[in-house]
Amino acid sequence: MGSTSDYGEFLAKKEGYVVAVVGVTGAVGQIMLEILAERKFPVSKLIPLASSRSAGSKIEFMGREYVVQDLEQFDPAGIDIALFSAGGDTSKQYAPRFAEAGCYVVDNSSAWRMDENVALIVPEVNPHAIKMAHANRIIANPNCSTIQMVVALKPLHDAVPIKRVNVSTYQAVSGAGSEAIDELAQQTGQLLNAEQPNVDVFPARIAFNVIPQIDVFLEDGYTKEERKMIDETRKIMEADIAVTATAVRVPVFYGHSEAVNITFDGEMNATLARELLAEAEGICVVDDPASEDYPMPTEAAGTDPVWVGRICDDHSCPNSLHLWVVADNVRKGAALNTVQIAEMLIQ
Ligand SMILES: NC(=O)c1ccc[n+]([C@@H]2O[C@H](COP(=O)([O-])OP(=O)(O)OC[C@H]3O[C@@H](n4cnc5c(N)ncnc54)[C@H](OP(=O)(O)O)[C@@H]3O)[C@@H](O)[C@H]2O)c1
Repeated sequence: MGSTSDYGEFLAKKEGYVVAVVGVTGAVGQIMLEILAERKFPVSKLIPLASSRSAGSKIEFMGREYVVQDLEQFDPAGIDIALFSAGGDTSKQYAPRFAEAGCYVVDNSSAWRMDENVALIVPEVNPHAIKMAHANRIIANPNCSTIQMVVALKPLHDAVPIKRVNVSTYQAVSGAGSEAIDELAQQTGQLLNAEQPNVDVFPARIAFNVIPQIDVFLEDGYTKEERKMIDETRKIMEADIAVTATAVRVPVFYGHSEAVNITFDGEMNATLARELLAEAEGICVVDDPASEDYPMPTEAAGTDPVWVGRICDDHSCPNSLHLWVVADNVRKGAALNTVQIAEMLIQ
């Protein structure tokens, strides 16, 4: 990962920083607290924030209990870093206020990702883009399915430029938040008890099903999730790569999987790709067909790397490969990437 010393100083060196976690009661916010503690991020004071719905409730961080505060009533003066994961509308409304008060915002929502003045960062891929944050103090965290894919694409693209990517995703329900996790658990129980399942969060029943729709449909027939993968990949990779995507929700709690087909603008093969991926930062290669060993969400869940396997030549097209890419969507796809960006701000 690049050192931010090349990109100018963001926050002056101190023993600890005042860190606000906005959306602290959510699926991502909860894992952010875990990762801040695990990575010993120097937090001198934690400010847990959510909506008025959960203001007053208690959360735990590093063995201490904190009372959740209402974002709407909160004055951001004195915060060093705010980690936002409370939806796009909340970020649009509050992130500029936090930035104007002098704090750096790392935002998990899609609100700022495609803003040309906002850096969209995966630290293993484009750390240099953080320079843009000197101007506006807001940094966007990419979409979860984009993050794990670009971590795998980057070392290959550095060796031989990528021309086209065709990805199909198999996305866990946790990508849609804590209510979605509850819905899969509840529907599974209902179906096993021969009851009619309640369908609230997803457009159709998710238990014992797959849904080829994530987010809303756009005019061209793609979904918004697919469009995010296309646009964000090109922004992060800073390359004119043709990308197409089919995003599918599957009844898995944690861990997104992706079948990625890549065409290169030059000679590439599975052997070289395996070597490049094995040496790359943030990637673990598990690719042993002889012992039926490949990455799966059950094993990736709760871990930090992007897991890559099933690396093979695509015989239907020259200089093309297949990869199978799996990562914990709430960790590398959200909270971990956010904390890694926060670490860049204090390096
Ligand atoms: N889950 C993932 O894998 C993932 C990956 C990448 C990005 N993201 C993004 O991260 C964000 C949060 O996702 P999540 O999965 O954690 O969702 P979630 O489990 O539904 O949690 C949402 C959080 O946002 C808070 N919130 C909602 N409206 C708010 C408001 N008006 N003011 C203050 N806080 C508000 C909620 O607080 P209350 O308890 O008060 O309701 C809760 O803490 C979304 O923008 C999502 O797109 C998620």
